[in-house]
Amino acid sequence: MQLPLQCDADSTLSLQDQLFSQIRQLILNGCLTPGTRMPASRMLASDLKVSRNTVVLTYDRLIAGGYLESHHPVGTFVASDFVPDDVCSPAPDALIQTGKNNGKLLKSPPKRAPVHFKGKPHVVVSPYKTEVPYDFLVGRPDARLFPIKDWMQNMRRKLRDMQEGNSVYVEPSGLPRLREAVAHYVGGARGIQADPEQIVIVNGTQEALTLLSQLFIREGTPVATENPCYQGAANVFASHGASLHPVPVDSEGIAVEKLPSKASLVYLTPAHQYPTGAMLSPARRRRLLRWCYSTGAYALEDDYNSDFCYDTTPLPALKSQDTADQVIYLGTFSKSLGAGLRAGYMVVPRHLVGPLTVAKGLLNNCSGWAVQALLAEFLISGEYTDHLRRIRTRYKARRNRLLSLLDRYGAKGCIHGAHGGMHIAWELPPGWPTAAQLEVQARDRGVGVYGLQAAGVYIAGRQAESRYQSTVLFGYAALDRGEIAAGIKRLVEQQDTRSEVPRTVSANA
Ligand SMILES: Cc1ncc(COP(=O)(O)O)c(C=O)c1O
Repeated sequence: MQLPLQCDADSTLSLQDQLFSQIRQLILNGCLTPGTRMPASRMLASDLKVSRNTVVLTYDRLIAGGYLESHHPVGTFVASDFVPDDVCSPAPDALIQTGKNNGKLLKSPPKRAPVHFKGKPHVVVSPYKTEVPYDFLVGRPDARLFPIKDWMQNMRRKLRDMQEGNSVYVEPSGLPRLREAVAHYVGGARGIQADPEQIVIVNGTQEALTLLSQLFIREGTPVATENPCYQGAANVFASHGASLHPVPVDSEGIAVEKLPSKASLVYLTPAHQYPTGAMLSPARRRRLLRWCYSTGAYALEDDYNSDFCYDTTPLPALKSQDTADQVIYLGTFSKSLGAGLRAGYMVVPRHLVGPLTVAKGLLNNCSGWAVQALLAEFLISGEYTDHLRRIRTRYKARRNRLLSLLDRYGAKGCIHGAHGGMHIAWELPPGWPTAAQLEVQARDRGVGVYGLQAAGVYIAGRQAESRYQSTVLFGYAALDRGEIAAGIKRLVEQQDTRSEVPRTVSANA
């Protein structure tokens, strides 16, 4: 480690005193933490162009003062039991005193540049710190089903290209091979005709939403969203100054007839509305496109989990029906492979490729080479489609298990979004606690279920007071059938005051 030390030969202080006070300061303010190994005296002396003796004597003084300790012959370390005192730590704002008023000290913050960003955080990890054995966390794939063998083989093969690939920036819009693979994939899987040039690789949908906000949103720009909708989208639009127009959703998806007369963007999740799970009906898709074409708005189609459609073939993406280049399609690998990859893509109209590529370049130059290279191989080899087929079968069986268990407890007719995706929404029957209460009670019994707030849902106006108060989300993809049965058993036993609730659930998944 190279320490940020400087010796000034013209100083009135000796070199030893300068070194002593700078190292002491680094330890006191926590930059050098207990147990950190100090550079060898010979090396430090050579870096600083001072005599070795100066460094040795400085270390000796710091050891004598309790700041360092010598572990001969291994080296010199910051003392393991050293607790920085607050003499030298920066004073908190509240203690900065600038004057007196009637004998009282006035407090005023230091002068600093204003922060112009005004974003609200969204729920992106479980809001609970502690884990529970049966966690129906929404949107999480089963890590046990990650195709680790295929991935490792590809990695071994691809690592050979790593020295070359890693040494330079990728094009901001993405690795050409991956863009080709994605264009091919969305053609077959979502009916979208796109050239590789229209694909922009991003670090997940969230980044795509940020880039699109940069392009289209200024203070007061009208943006229509589903209500309720994915909080990560609503909050990013708002952080860029959008004026949000929340539009209600029902069993056919966003209520197109309630869209505002003017908007620059409409954000929606047609395949599996987040959070209700509704699928946008074909009639509404047509009307929505007509609305876009007449208002000039772009539709942002967030297709976050359309890979999971269980009972029928999926409806083609809205983008596939877009004849006027006004739909921007957002795909992600977060649900099919895992959010840790931070990989997703946009399919964009040709006239937006330029500005989006520039915006992506300015944001982070490009996405990382390794993940892009691996994803490209995974898609091109057909392993991705095999993986999807495998997990779709498993997730379907898990969904079936969950539905049959919940049906026994009076849930029939109150479950939404079961046709696909990775979660269902259960509107609790009368007599049950509210979703927020159930969430807390369930947690006490080791079961994670999620009301809308905890599941990262944006909800505006009167909708917040409505049936959504009694809507609970169950993500079922990450639990196997036995775990689902055991979790539901615990959840239902908790409601054992309800006479119609059977007490036993078999766990033979
Ligand atoms: C509806 C919806 N869209 C987008 C995302 C974010 O996806 P990504 O991980 O690709 O940023 C999520 C994450 O849970 C989501 O629920």
